[in-house]
Amino acid sequence: MKYKLNDFLIDGVKAKILAKKYSTPLYCYSLSKIKENIKNFQKSFKSIDPLVCFAVKANPNKVILRQMGKLGLGADVVSIGELMNALKSGIKPNKIVFSGVGKTSYELTHAIKKNILLINAESKSEILEIERIAKIKKKKVNVGVRLNPNTDAKTLSQISTGKKENKFGIPEKELLNIIIYLKNSKYLNLKCLSVHIGSQILDHAPYEKMLKVLKKIINKTKFKFEYIDLGGGMGIDYENKSKRLNLNRYSKSIKKILIKNKSKIIFEPGRSIIGNAGFLISKVIYIKEGHKKDFIILDAAMNDLIRPALYGSKHSIIPVRKNKKIKKKEIEFVGPICESADKFLNLKKYQAIKENDFILISDVGAYGMSLASNYCFRPKPAEILIDKSIIKLIRKKENIKKLILNN
Ligand code: LLP
Repeated sequence: MKYKLNDFLIDGVKAKILAKKYSTPLYCYSLSKIKENIKNFQKSFKSIDPLVCFAVKANPNKVILRQMGKLGLGADVVSIGELMNALKSGIKPNKIVFSGVGKTSYELTHAIKKNILLINAESKSEILEIERIAKIKKKKVNVGVRLNPNTDAKTLSQISTGKKENKFGIPEKELLNIIIYLKNSKYLNLKCLSVHIGSQILDHAPYEKMLKVLKKIINKTKFKFEYIDLGGGMGIDYENKSKRLNLNRYSKSIKKILIKNKSKIIFEPGRSIIGNAGFLISKVIYIKEGHKKDFIILDAAMNDLIRPALYGSKHSIIPVRKNKKIKKKEIEFVGPICESADKFLNLKKYQAIKENDFILISDVGAYGMSLASNYCFRPKPAEILIDKSIIKLIRKKENIKKLILNN
């Protein structure tokens, strides 16, 4: 992904051509980048040899999931929809883990029927429900228990999940009682201790802290867990600040802290696998002079990409065609929706830009399309995957007439 003669290329294909052929807004993914991310991830954790379960919520496109499966990844799912989607995309049940605080009886029954690797339970009530279903089905079901380690992930509060005030996981004391209960259960097979402290984590320290809490608990339980599921959360460099989580360092800490433990490590990464492999191409509809700044009004809106509106996240915006004319005036990239939250980025200077130009919003491969909605009755955009210059339409743009029909 780079400029060649001022044109931005995604895996060798000019973004301008994609925009014209498939219309905008348009999600584009680079398969080579996804592969590179997976390779880097696996290389960093090579000495641990983990099972990597892609967090489907980051990007549930079935063609992408199929690729993840082909590349050896399993799946971390949080709903029956994600579970069915992962299975349909060819991911084997013995590589699927099911997380979440509110799995319904219907969802649990389905997961039990499909013999997935693990159901990671998050409360005593959920354990009792799984046990009830297992008894009816006359099956011994593999379960994990998720710990709430009371560890601050030092990330956005909205995506922080490991502190005691968060709804996730089970506090230490309760967890120890649950483990005693599970040791004696006829229908449940305790296999895993899981944890996930949050998302977009860039500091090493929270992970280190979390590992220490885990070690303490493992020692207290004196239980031999077949698996330790460390969740996901590895952050990416959205703002080109070169602040990056050092996966090698994390790997070393895991080895050091959990050394005596022979458990198989599971990871559930989403963002670090696909975040930087996706772009949202959009067209400048209008440019409007405001009181103090120019508004660059795009055809992409908060329904297509909600991260800036929801979390104040900053995704860099780059021109599809580069020029050398820099304009020193404040500009704001905004969407067409009638909310002031429908904006993407403010900049103090940018290259000269005109109406009908195309731009790319970067790092939208994770939690971009998966969080898209039909707000304001806008159809969700198309998605394409580029594989060595070959373009595959992997999801058609939604059809407005169909949307109206199904309303
Ligand atoms: N495992 C569990 C149990 C999770 O809850 C999550 C994310 C993951 C794994 C994957 O985390 P990752 O490696 O992608 O950080 N919509 C937000 C992110 C929400 C993350 C929710 N859970 C965003 O756009 O930043």
